[in-house]
Amino acid sequence: MQDNAAAPALEIRFDTIRQELSKIARESFQTTLGEWGNVEPAVAACANPNFGDYQINNAMGIWSTIKGKETEFRNPREIAQSITRNFPQTGFVETTSVAGPGFINVKLSSVYIAKRLNELLLHGIDTWAPVLPVKRAIVDFSSPNIAKEMHVGHLRSTIIGDCLANMIEYCKVEVLRRNHVGDWGTQFGMLIEYLFEMFPNWEDIGDQAIGDLQAFYKESKVRFDADEEFKAKAQQAVVKLQSGDAKYRAAWKILCNISRNEFQQVYDRLKVSLEEKGESFYNPYIPDAIQILRDKGILEESDGATVIFVDGHKIPLIAIKRDGGFNYASTDLAALWYRLNVEKVEWIIYVTDVGQHQHFDMLFKAAKRAEWLPKEGYPRTQHVGFGLVLGADGKRFRTRQGTGLVRLVDLLDEAKSRSKTALIERGRDDEWSPEDLDAAAESVGYGAVKYADLKNNRETNYTFSFEQMLDVRGNTAVYLLYAYARIRSIIRKSGKSIDELKENGAIVLTHPDERALGLFLIQFSEVVEDAVTRLLPNTLCEYLYNLSENFTRFYTSCKVNGSPEETSRLLLCEATAIVMKQCFKLLGITPLERL
Ligand code: ARG
Repeated sequence: MQDNAAAPALEIRFDTIRQELSKIARESFQTTLGEWGNVEPAVAACANPNFGDYQINNAMGIWSTIKGKETEFRNPREIAQSITRNFPQTGFVETTSVAGPGFINVKLSSVYIAKRLNELLLHGIDTWAPVLPVKRAIVDFSSPNIAKEMHVGHLRSTIIGDCLANMIEYCKVEVLRRNHVGDWGTQFGMLIEYLFEMFPNWEDIGDQAIGDLQAFYKESKVRFDADEEFKAKAQQAVVKLQSGDAKYRAAWKILCNISRNEFQQVYDRLKVSLEEKGESFYNPYIPDAIQILRDKGILEESDGATVIFVDGHKIPLIAIKRDGGFNYASTDLAALWYRLNVEKVEWIIYVTDVGQHQHFDMLFKAAKRAEWLPKEGYPRTQHVGFGLVLGADGKRFRTRQGTGLVRLVDLLDEAKSRSKTALIERGRDDEWSPEDLDAAAESVGYGAVKYADLKNNRETNYTFSFEQMLDVRGNTAVYLLYAYARIRSIIRKSGKSIDELKENGAIVLTHPDERALGLFLIQFSEVVEDAVTRLLPNTLCEYLYNLSENFTRFYTSCKVNGSPEETSRLLLCEATAIVMKQCFKLLGITPLERL
């Protein structure tokens, strides 16, 4: 391993099983059917292992195109049989069978499965990364609003967005992790005027002036609504800020910094990295972007506003408001132009609650009308919407006092302190240093919050419950982290070094539960491929959970330490640990070697 690390980066990348099977299927389609065999193989893992490992489902489709033509085939089943006879000899397929009207079932050779696992041990999990058709992508996520609260919705966006970015990065695509913070609304006029009024010496006290920015926001809003004179001043302030007045800019920066520091506390706890390019950044680009749309001839006047009509929506996307000002959509149009033309990204993913679906649908359709985006293919934009977080009462999640939405840092701190208590109850404070205990509490606590969010299909609402997410027995991060640490401890207890085991032997799969675990492991790449192309992190959670179940089955039926198969089985434990660790990494969870 040491030697590998020092060697120049090897660009080995293995195909997924699906790809390998597709290759041989394609060859056989050609041999069997000539021109008619020119179809994309439909290869999928079998849901029921009694049939086989994989299924190839093309015979029925091919039959519907050749039916009635001069061929040797009388039904789809015959096509399937002929295809299986013509499979090229690769040593990778052990047996094939045809079921029902023409499903081809394939059983892989155990030697092949073991070979893939031994490659993993030798070259590392990066060689298993799926290949995506892009080089550079943007994940636009988290994106809270300055001076307003960062709420649970932003937490979901942060957790889901980070996981998607991790997966795309794993596929060796450069990812710009973009925090599109709301730092340019009209609320700043009011905030700045209130700052001047309350803290005449605001320039000297700077960031220290305000304390709680959300409370400050509420106070200034009260003032704004109650006092006409103040309101007029605030509106003037927006104009001054947007025209670049130095004093107003300086005040704006102070306000932004206070929020930024608060957001950062959440990102630090979650170990999520983001690069801020807020709405204000795109402000100078808006007029040009709008001019380009005007030149394309897709802008219309409607009710005094300048708008773009798109298919499927009665109301248009507003590019310029009636008062001549810009809005959320104007900024997103300019941002999209910038991302496509300056940053030259090929894939842009926006992670927000499902409530913004209409906005993004209109934005993307407008960009297609403008021919900024092709009708199909890349560059491509996608909105990743997610549902609400609910409290135990089934309503939108709030603090226990019912006073407003939860402060995110407090929520994360509670997850950590509850985990710490549980670890102390298990006596870990006697065995570990305070630092190790703290690190474990963070891994478990924050991991639990992340996993509870990611394991659901993101579009459904989910109920936030500390009890559930910290349960050691359910489908939780805690359970999975223990499962991982247990595998590490099995390896440690053997007293063998993995490097030596690799030198002295290799994985050989004999017992059915051993083979089932091995097959499941080598399916990791295609699970990531599915999760990343469908933008569904829950697919990966499900895989991780099933993997640990598969491991338990293997470990229950196969003796590892002290058995004649010890070397192979310890290596299989190691391969499982490698894949689990990568799952955790993609989910944004830090696994522990001991727990
Ligand atoms: N700031 C917005 C909100 O809190 C989310 C921004 C999402 N990104 C975007 N490019 N519109 O709802």
